[in-house]
Amino acid sequence: MYRVASLTSTGSRWRGTVDLSCARYLHKRPHLTRGSMALMQPTVASSRQSRGYSGGGPKLQFPPLPKEWEGQYKVGQMFTQQDSLPRLPVPPLQQTLERYLKFVQPLISEEEFEKTTAAVTEFGAEGGVGEELQRLLHERAKTKDSWLIDWWNHVAYLAYRLPVMVHSNPAIGFPRQPCGDQDKFVTNATRMLLGCVKWNMLIQNEAIPVDYYRGKPLCMHHYQLYSKCRIPGPTADTLRTTPINESRHVIVIRNGYFYRLDVLYETPDGTLAVTPSSHVMSELHHILETAPPTNEYPVGILTNEHRDTWYQARERLRKDPQNQACLEDIETSILTVSLDKAHPHTMNLDPSQPFNDYQRSLVAGNFLHGNGSQLNSINRWSDTCIQCCVSEDGGLGSLLEHTGGDGPPAVSADIFLLDMLSLGYDWLAESSPVPVQSLKPARQLRWNISAESANDIKTAIVNNDKLSGDVDLRVVTFQDFGKDIPKKFKLSPDGFIQTAIQLAYWKLYHKTSAMYESAATRWFKYGRTDTIRSVSNISHSFLKAMSDPTTPVKEKAELLVESVKAHSHYTNEAISGQAPDRHLLGLRLIASEAGIELPGIFTDPAYSKSLHFNLSTSQVAVANYDIILCFGAVVPDGYGVCYNPQTNKTIMSISSYLSCPHTDSALFQERLQESLREMRDVMEAAAPLAAKL
Ligand code: COA
Repeated sequence: MYRVASLTSTGSRWRGTVDLSCARYLHKRPHLTRGSMALMQPTVASSRQSRGYSGGGPKLQFPPLPKEWEGQYKVGQMFTQQDSLPRLPVPPLQQTLERYLKFVQPLISEEEFEKTTAAVTEFGAEGGVGEELQRLLHERAKTKDSWLIDWWNHVAYLAYRLPVMVHSNPAIGFPRQPCGDQDKFVTNATRMLLGCVKWNMLIQNEAIPVDYYRGKPLCMHHYQLYSKCRIPGPTADTLRTTPINESRHVIVIRNGYFYRLDVLYETPDGTLAVTPSSHVMSELHHILETAPPTNEYPVGILTNEHRDTWYQARERLRKDPQNQACLEDIETSILTVSLDKAHPHTMNLDPSQPFNDYQRSLVAGNFLHGNGSQLNSINRWSDTCIQCCVSEDGGLGSLLEHTGGDGPPAVSADIFLLDMLSLGYDWLAESSPVPVQSLKPARQLRWNISAESANDIKTAIVNNDKLSGDVDLRVVTFQDFGKDIPKKFKLSPDGFIQTAIQLAYWKLYHKTSAMYESAATRWFKYGRTDTIRSVSNISHSFLKAMSDPTTPVKEKAELLVESVKAHSHYTNEAISGQAPDRHLLGLRLIASEAGIELPGIFTDPAYSKSLHFNLSTSQVAVANYDIILCFGAVVPDGYGVCYNPQTNKTIMSISSYLSCPHTDSALFQERLQESLREMRDVMEAAAPLAAKL
């Protein structure tokens, strides 16, 4: 997800400069000066130090696994391809400028396009500023494993000032789990938390097999999502990573109360092993039975504040040494686990039934923002890289603080858990002889809340409820088809869905908008994402043809095929490091770093328009599992759309803001389903005509 300053947004929720990106939010960041760039800390190390982070201390136990997986996870294999990965290229300047003009054209008027073309021509002229910036970028690329990654982590995440809840942290929802009583609730929580701890042990052992995409290895760096916490700063945050030897615990949160629970212990033979599930389960039962039902000062809610506000509040909180110790416990934990209450509309459901889409939307909303301070927003520490959420209604999910990595590596832990369960392997049944004296009970963190911190928390509750109550989130399972139909017509399913999203938007607004799709650039060392610009001149023609009843079906089908092909072509460029978006960002940032006045191409209104992503989208495909990822829209008048296409159905999440009078997630999902059906019908109607030729 990614963003940059929305130049037009006002009001407290959108205040400040919104720079950014995870791929969804990247606008303009006028205040990014030489000084602020100088403060930027490297976010990846370029040596072995960046692989794993086990540090010194005891040897790590290799966790038991299903026998079917024997040989699949091997110590030391995870980074075997890392050193042979190519570096992210700096694309040719003229190529980027041509591509920029192409993607910006359908978004602006002819008159604006003329001005933009002039600004681009001036920028790209021989001996002009563009060439100088390109030279500087090449210089930077020579000295780093990735010319982009530190900038990206800073600009897209750490310097982003809106609350990370909803605006940056994506949520992942699992299929419904067995529920109905406290035992099942505790079982779900223990499975989730110990499953993640086990997965982290595999990461620490560098035992995860290397990922491949289209036959080529991918960068594995961003699997390292555990024991990481974002720490708020005055103008930009930092990312803290704790070595496993100092990070042996998780934080359990119930009713806004925090508990430290050790989940690793040192065995008599000196290895670090996973705490037995029986101990974890009994501690979770104890927490559920003893956590007071109400909490006047739920400190975690502060992490859902605007980042500047949270920074100030944290400074006030840590004046007290006892609070400092609580923060230290939280910020060095492996992950957090929220023991959530059920939403009133999901609390009395038949436990044997899966959630329907309405219920799934509520549960996914709970993961994304906690459904308000009266429910579970108080059970979050939004800065922790991985937050597991378990709810009384059978909901199971997690939240990702985005600085550490992207959706696919985060979801891999979920696939690992679900794969083990589907093999009939339950890690809760593993035997583990442990000396009783080495197992510590969970310990509640005790805060000293001063009058000023009490005020901070009260304000945070109001702001939290405003934001969480504003999210209009719909999860929908499109049952008619999945990847099967596009494949039947020899089209990329991703391109097909992207075109359908454009058509849905067109049906509602009769215009196109800037549209963002994340493309993984993990073929490159430390690669994360670039932007696929799905809207093109050809897709624009397709949208117009679809709303014109006089256009013959054959023509519609041809335009559809060309639109999807154009999208696939753009995807190939983006995953190969040749898309224009990150390159333009690099040129902009290197100008700022070198103290060069921002060139006209970046002050041209078309540039900020192209970064106002009314449609921020992402595919997170998880074959065979009904997992859904969701995130907030990245502009106040936009939609966030994420989808998981399966063979013959597609699970989608759509978010927008209720405060925007122009958006409506329910209507959007109806139009999206309608668009998918119409596009299938067009292809089916045109197929016999094409066959006759
Ligand atoms: N004819 C028939 N089949 C086709 C086809 C065509 N013309 N084009 C593609 N296919 C097939 C593919 O072989 C693939 O088959 P599979 O189901 O056996 O795997 C399937 O259709 C899907 O391919 P496609 O729709 O092109 O998408 P993709 O899986 O290659 O994914 C991206 C495209 C952009 C989503 C992917 O490259 C990516 O970057 N994913 C990560 C995104 C991310 O990081 N998101 C999170 C950000 S927080």
